[in-house]
Amino acid sequence: MGFVLAAAGSAVGLGNIWKFPYITGENGGGAFVLVYLLCILLVGVPVMIAEILLGRATKASPVSAYRSQSRPGSPWVGIGVLGVLAAYLLLSYYSAVAGWAMHYTYLSVTNEIAGSSPEQVQGLFAALTASVPTGLGWQFAFLLLTFGVVAAGVTHGIERWARIMMPSLLVLMLVLLGKAMTMDGWGEGIEFLFGMRTDNLTAGGVLEALGHAFFTLSLGMGSMITYGSYLSSKDDLASASLLTAGTDTLVALLASMVVFPIAFTFALEPGAGPGLIFVTIPTALAQMAGGSILSIVFFVMLVFAALTSAIAIFEVVTAYLVDDFGLSRNKACVTGGLAVVLIGVPPSVSAVWFDRVDYFVSNWALPLGGLGIAVFVAWKMNAALRRGEFESGSRLAKFYRTWLWILKYPVPACIVVVFLHAVGLV
Ligand code: PFF
Repeated sequence: MGFVLAAAGSAVGLGNIWKFPYITGENGGGAFVLVYLLCILLVGVPVMIAEILLGRATKASPVSAYRSQSRPGSPWVGIGVLGVLAAYLLLSYYSAVAGWAMHYTYLSVTNEIAGSSPEQVQGLFAALTASVPTGLGWQFAFLLLTFGVVAAGVTHGIERWARIMMPSLLVLMLVLLGKAMTMDGWGEGIEFLFGMRTDNLTAGGVLEALGHAFFTLSLGMGSMITYGSYLSSKDDLASASLLTAGTDTLVALLASMVVFPIAFTFALEPGAGPGLIFVTIPTALAQMAGGSILSIVFFVMLVFAALTSAIAIFEVVTAYLVDDFGLSRNKACVTGGLAVVLIGVPPSVSAVWFDRVDYFVSNWALPLGGLGIAVFVAWKMNAALRRGEFESGSRLAKFYRTWLWILKYPVPACIVVVFLHAVGLV
């Protein structure tokens, strides 16, 4: 249970509450959601099983995991290194958005959102993005929390906080859902989310759904390899993966079932892009009865989601420094933390850098890491070890061949198509 909560904590993050609703909005709703669900089930879950399996089999961080299963000097180790680099880069801008969520929590608590006019709410976001010290201050505060939990260790830090934050997040989400269900825009919001309008779906939308499946399930950068390395051989790995992916999907859908009815009730644009959460939703909350409490609930939930994910991202960097450089956990956290704060964070204040790094991580590093793990586990890893790991403690042992076949053929094929699209060939 602790593992599933920690893995679900990694998966459920800004990707579910901030990114999923806005890309669903931009891609026209229902048909996109269906494609996304297929990507999660057919590509995401098999890759997640592969990552956790490699971690548990080698009991090592990503770089050492690849190293221990390949010849000396093998280029596979490079896939592990790419994952650590991606984690480092991702944390430097993920923490910026998480810092915004903390700032909005503060604005909600000090009652600066409730009762504001739409122009005033837009002004709050503009002021935040224009003020470098405010943005950096909240970003550092968020990073300190992240480093603190990771330094406390796997059982006393990561698992313990996941056990507290994940159930709280679900409760907060259900409170908001209860409110959304009473709103005038509920029917329209649900129809937007689940109604099939296939003419809105483009090839780009399909590829975005696949890319997001990697991001939201925390795949391709070794986060699940690292978490898998702490899993015991008695645990049921395939069921844990399904449960993690199921929780992640549920939260993304619940978040959308809150966001779209609010947007429709107040006649706001569902395809408003990244500002949907920080402008559209506060605009609506400001006009609602009970808006001040609801906005606290909403932004605390967002901070919890971001924190459990940032912990998982930073754990990739920490485990690498512990395994490959022999540092103690505390020293690894201080070294990794200083590197993120001093070298990673400063450039992330520039919007251009932010967009470029997000583009590199989401569209290149994660799919490449996902392709690497799928090909490595399916084609390179010792077959007896792989089968033993899949079957050990598993109620789903009979699906071993099906899983392996999916990992060998459809998964790499789908990811290659994403790359061909990224370079403009399809
Ligand atoms: N899955 C997280 C989200 O949806 O926000 C992001 C993430 C966390 C990506 C951890 C990768 C990772 F290793």
